[in-house]
Amino acid sequence: MRKNIVAGNWKMNKTLQEGVELAKELQTALKGKTVNCDVIICTPFIHLATVNGVIDGKTVRLGAENCADKVSGAYTGEVSAAMVASTGAKYVILGHSERRAYYGETNAILKEKVKLALENNLTPIFCIGEVLEEREAGKQNEVVKSQVTEALFDLSAEDFGKIILAYEPVWAIGTGKTATPAQAQEIHAFIRQTVAVKYGAAVANETSILYGGSANAGNAKELFSNPDVDGGLIGGAALKVDAFLPIVEAF
Ligand code: 13P
Repeated sequence: MRKNIVAGNWKMNKTLQEGVELAKELQTALKGKTVNCDVIICTPFIHLATVNGVIDGKTVRLGAENCADKVSGAYTGEVSAAMVASTGAKYVILGHSERRAYYGETNAILKEKVKLALENNLTPIFCIGEVLEEREAGKQNEVVKSQVTEALFDLSAEDFGKIILAYEPVWAIGTGKTATPAQAQEIHAFIRQTVAVKYGAAVANETSILYGGSANAGNAKELFSNPDVDGGLIGGAALKVDAFLPIVEAF
């Protein structure tokens, strides 16, 4: 069966020292507890190697928030998939709406990033989702379908099977406005169906599809109780153990 996953996306928050403290606290809080999901924290690049030293990689797993679309070379300021992997991180968020909106990341660029992540044995947490105007025009299905098709559907079934999807409606990110459980279920089922048409029901059933966008301790249980919602990608509520832990325990 597909995995339940709760992943934190720290975004551009926490100094190195603050991040290491948060990771330690989370590791301590979860160690020895039985939870029904994999717990991942995705941190800024500079935190990765140090945070990797204070978590055990099983109770708490580690990912980056991005990687470059090039292998190596003269790309000042970029961090490659191989560099991310060399820190001990096992996951990488790709295609976050903030990367798409503020840093011009297109499906074509993301396709390269996914390829490089997989070549370096990183599991992509691939984000898709519509903006408010698209939702209001009833175009959300069309938007997510083109995002997965253009960035991911060149992959072999075997490689696609390594991808975690995260549906994050842009209008719900950091706004305090959450998709209703029914809205989340409807579009998650559509995404899974889209995967099934391309790769078959078996691959689609094994694909974890996370929800992201103002998920918190108060709404996680209801969101996660939907058959096609396999967990969450959490922003703001991942920055404090007290806020994150109840989401992990919502399964
Ligand atoms: P918030 O949980 O802060 O809305 O952020 C969601 C998100 O963008 C996670 O990647």
